[in-house]
Amino acid sequence: MQIRQVTAEDRTDTIFPLQTYAFMPSPWADADRVIYAGRMQYFRTTLTLVAEEDGRALAGVAALPMRQNVRGVLHDMAGVASVTTHPAARRRGLVRELLGRLLRQMSEQGCTVSALYPFRPSFYGRFGFVGLPRARTATFAPEGLSHLLRADLPGEVEQFTMREGFDDYNALTLRLLGERHGFSVYDEVRTAEFREDPRWVAVARVDGEVVAAVAYRIDRFGGDLIADDLLATGPLGRALLLQYFARHVDQVARVIVTIGADEVPELWGTDFAVLTQGKVAYPSNGGPMARLLSMEALTGTVTTAEESITVEVVDDDFIAGRYLLAGESGRLTVEPSKNEPQATLTCAAISALAYGVLDPIEIVTRGLGQVEPSAAGPLNALFPRRMPYLFADF
Ligand SMILES: CC(C)(COP(=O)(O)OP(=O)(O)OC[C@H]1O[C@@H](n2cnc3c(N)ncnc32)[C@H](O)[C@@H]1OP(=O)(O)O)[C@@H](O)C(=O)NCCC(=O)NCCS
Repeated sequence: MQIRQVTAEDRTDTIFPLQTYAFMPSPWADADRVIYAGRMQYFRTTLTLVAEEDGRALAGVAALPMRQNVRGVLHDMAGVASVTTHPAARRRGLVRELLGRLLRQMSEQGCTVSALYPFRPSFYGRFGFVGLPRARTATFAPEGLSHLLRADLPGEVEQFTMREGFDDYNALTLRLLGERHGFSVYDEVRTAEFREDPRWVAVARVDGEVVAAVAYRIDRFGGDLIADDLLATGPLGRALLLQYFARHVDQVARVIVTIGADEVPELWGTDFAVLTQGKVAYPSNGGPMARLLSMEALTGTVTTAEESITVEVVDDDFIAGRYLLAGESGRLTVEPSKNEPQATLTCAAISALAYGVLDPIEIVTRGLGQVEPSAAGPLNALFPRRMPYLFADF
């Protein structure tokens, strides 16, 4: 068995059959192969590794170069995708080998975090990843927002095809990358494909500045308006888009929109009836997972705590070691330390703290590490719970 890095063009002959067998209806038609080959121009910067035997690809993994905001620091991120092994070659350790090499290579390229959508989180838990919240959907009848029809909001919403509205939409995602914890975006090469998205995009502006946008489609008259992530810089942008949805009363029965785990749709209006759902199921509906690939890269993380603590990170090829974590003047610094550690953390544990998804006590109850009672307070203060919103789905 040998591991080989393949080009975007080579993906059609190597990883396409594996990926399509694993994730798509099959057998596939020749046309699917042609469509896949046509899309490979958007994967020129994707790192793809395959494990081959006798010239035949048995397993493959890929990493998309992305960027992510983790508590105010922009990280280069490896977005792991296309993880597959041919059924005849499963449980031979091929993906373990491939994934290790993939993360190493992406880390050498400068990636300091990685994220993925798991078929089963315990599988990726072995590789240091920890679960993040899954995006929710809010489902409601547009008449529930009728109060907004009468509201005179200082802004306007325009409807475009994605091709027309793409530059504004994309610029908003880049702005949110800088502002929103957990937000992640692809590089320009991969992003270019979304210009061809066949959906509408509604763009909200205040004084000419884009403050919100949402991609959506309508399935039929009297049916559903199905919207992607409700992207907004704040409550006014969100209200402008909700007002726009409200104007679809008598046209659609329901609006279904994707929202972050920290949104509370029942507070969008008085008497507002809404169903908020976050279905997690495996293998096809997993919430995302993420991990740190560097401890030093946490330096600069926004924190209000003036605390310091020594932690030992264990059992990890990338970040094992002893570190002094200190909060000073609103920022975290991370330095190697020789002090006695007050907490022993796996990669999943320190990643959970950095991403804001688990409390130090939960680190212990989940079996991800040991935290001395005196360490729970400082760790909690340095890394207060804060729900990340990943946005990108890969
Ligand atoms: C999931 C999949 C990629 C695993 O590939 P593989 O080459 O069989 O994995 P490996 O043999 O390298 O196994 C790595 C580790 O995970 C364990 N493992 C393998 N499959 C597992 C499963 N389905 N559930 C839990 N653990 C699993 C192995 O025992 C091994 O553990 P160890 O290193 O501690 O001994 C493969 O089964 C597959 O292609 N499945 C269908 C597609 C899919 O779901 N891909 C993942 C998308 S996120």
